[in-house]
Amino acid sequence: MDYRTSPAAKLKGTLAMPGDKSISHRALILAAIAEGKSRIKGFLESDDCLNTMKAFQAMGVNIEKKDKDIYEVDGVGLKGLQEAGDIIDCGNSGTTMRLLAGLLAAQDFYTVLTGDNTLRRRPMDRVIEPLSLMGAEIWARGNKYAPISILGRPLQAIEYKLPVASAQVKSALLLAGLYCDGELKIIDKGTSRDHTERMLISFGVELDIQGNIIMIKKKEDIVLKGQEIDVPGDISSAAYFIAAALLTEGSELILTDIGINPTRSGFLEVIKEMGAELEIFNIRNTGAEPLADIRVSASKLKAVTIKGEIIPTLVDELPLLAILAARAEGVTIIQDAGELRVKESDRIKSTVQGLMRLGVKAEEKDDGMIIYGPGDFCGNTEIDTFHDHRIAMSFAVAGLISKEPFIIKDFESVNISFPEFNSFLAEII
Ligand code: S3P
Repeated sequence: MDYRTSPAAKLKGTLAMPGDKSISHRALILAAIAEGKSRIKGFLESDDCLNTMKAFQAMGVNIEKKDKDIYEVDGVGLKGLQEAGDIIDCGNSGTTMRLLAGLLAAQDFYTVLTGDNTLRRRPMDRVIEPLSLMGAEIWARGNKYAPISILGRPLQAIEYKLPVASAQVKSALLLAGLYCDGELKIIDKGTSRDHTERMLISFGVELDIQGNIIMIKKKEDIVLKGQEIDVPGDISSAAYFIAAALLTEGSELILTDIGINPTRSGFLEVIKEMGAELEIFNIRNTGAEPLADIRVSASKLKAVTIKGEIIPTLVDELPLLAILAARAEGVTIIQDAGELRVKESDRIKSTVQGLMRLGVKAEEKDDGMIIYGPGDFCGNTEIDTFHDHRIAMSFAVAGLISKEPFIIKDFESVNISFPEFNSFLAEII
């Protein structure tokens, strides 16, 4: 579906964002393998998370919708999943495929996981390799790509140093580690999001976390206990509205109940450094996760360098930061972000190509990009999203201040993480 942008005058209002995507996946997974009922409030009803839900329904887990965003899950316990009668389609969701690979490597049955055209081109060897070291039997196209077939096996603990800062790989190993013989030890590379660790602890699993080293403490038998989970608003979705307010003159927005876990909130740090007028208030906790309300006003921005340790904490927001950088005074440099090349699209290429089509001077680098600001978005062009939801929404933000309208192709990809994006935008225009 083509989306035609239209310029906005000032944005005003208060919005509560839908539930966090990463936390919604994890809530379902842990609730499914827990003993007893769990209740998930604020579950993100987007394509990615619904694919995780369908996977567990296919494996015999009863999940009942109680209301909008509220689900009850009858946990089947660690050993209660059943072999699915068909292949499991993870759609566009890397989180579903990688986390399930870890969980299913230890089950007593056979599973085939596949995905859409995009997901079948994303690397799965990053989970297959360490899981194989634990004794898993996994076959993949070219040893790397989905469809992947998994024959569950008894697993042994290993000590594994992550070669990339990836929460998906870390989480896959933690899920496998619930089942393996001995104590699994993971040495993280940097600070990737820690929702799995926090939620495992809430479900009663003992973890020993020392800096970047995570160990699952082995008791005789690990039992997860059903929980009430309140999913905070997704900071990655809030980021589009924060950016829209920063760029659109005279704007002021309040976003409520936003997750501000420090392993996810690098975006807020960077925009503060760029000069954003931002207030984070009403800071509190929901279960294991911190959340807050955020007030943001239109601001004059300056260029920054984004690199190193902070990258994993804002990895999904980098295309959007590139849009902000185009309007900031000076040259913005993004580096150490080679992971962007293996996301839902090659986000270095898709972002730079889109910026250049809008008349912004930008350059691709192997592990990042350079954006020369401040420039105007000219419009009167077409933006290829490569079916990537984050590219679609980042350019929709640029569209609010573009001189001429432009077309964003395949805009339906927003359903992956934020089906209500358009209606939220309509509320504040
Ligand atoms: C996610 C982790 C990140 C992120 C993705 C969701 C997760 O990927 O880009 O959108 O839920 O664990 P990596 O862990 O592979 O960097």
